[in-house]
Amino acid sequence: MTTTMTLAELAAASAHAIRHLERHGLDYCCGGKQPFDEACRAKNLNPDSVLAEIENSTPAPAGETDWQAAPMRDLARHIIATHHEYLKLEMPALAKRLDKVVSVHGPKDQEMWDRLVVVYGGLRSELELHLHKEEIILFPFIEQYGAAELAGRPAPPVPFGSIANPIAVMEREHTEAGGALAEIRSLTTDFTLPEYACATVRALYSGLQALEADLHIHLENNILFPRAIAFEQR
Ligand SMILES: [Fe+2]
Ligand SMILES: [Fe+2]
Repeated sequence: MTTTMTLAELAAASAHAIRHLERHGLDYCCGGKQPFDEACRAKNLNPDSVLAEIENSTPAPAGETDWQAAPMRDLARHIIATHHEYLKLEMPALAKRLDKVVSVHGPKDQEMWDRLVVVYGGLRSELELHLHKEEIILFPFIEQYGAAELAGRPAPPVPFGSIANPIAVMEREHTEAGGALAEIRSLTTDFTLPEYACATVRALYSGLQALEADLHIHLENNILFPRAIAFEQR
């Protein structure tokens, strides 16, 4: 590992790098194409010491899957079974929580809550559509690529020229979702509870924060998608 690698490359290289990047607020998902040293300097961090911290830290706990080495098909199935299912359950629940909070506390900070309703509503409908497109259009072909990978066969033909085409669309949507999440973070001042916060506000904020953490853009942008493109080009 070197300081000139991008954030995405570092994150893909090791699971414990991710924990350090997160701790320092270095965005390896949507901001993943930024070189690590530049991103560190922008946050007044010394790139050499952060890298040393990553290299000297203990390896990932046993039982954590190395998605760079696991079969592509397992990763694709894991994404759908774990992350997509979580989002499908969690997003409507968060919308209900948000409605409840707005009806009780809305007037205490009307502008912020109005904006949060708009941004969250947009994020939810975009993401629901996005998950649907991945599951209907892209992942069935990744599943076929995964089967070919396991059987030692070349990538089968796809109807859209190259798998890189739908992937580019999905990555654009990830960037948009990342923008909405960044706005939610800033509207809620990094999920800092207002002094009038009741249990529902707490549950809303922790749910939004968990949603941000579970978005799995990293697994797709930095691991699954590059692997599918590389497999096609073999
Ligand atoms: Fe996904
Ligand atoms: Fe996605």
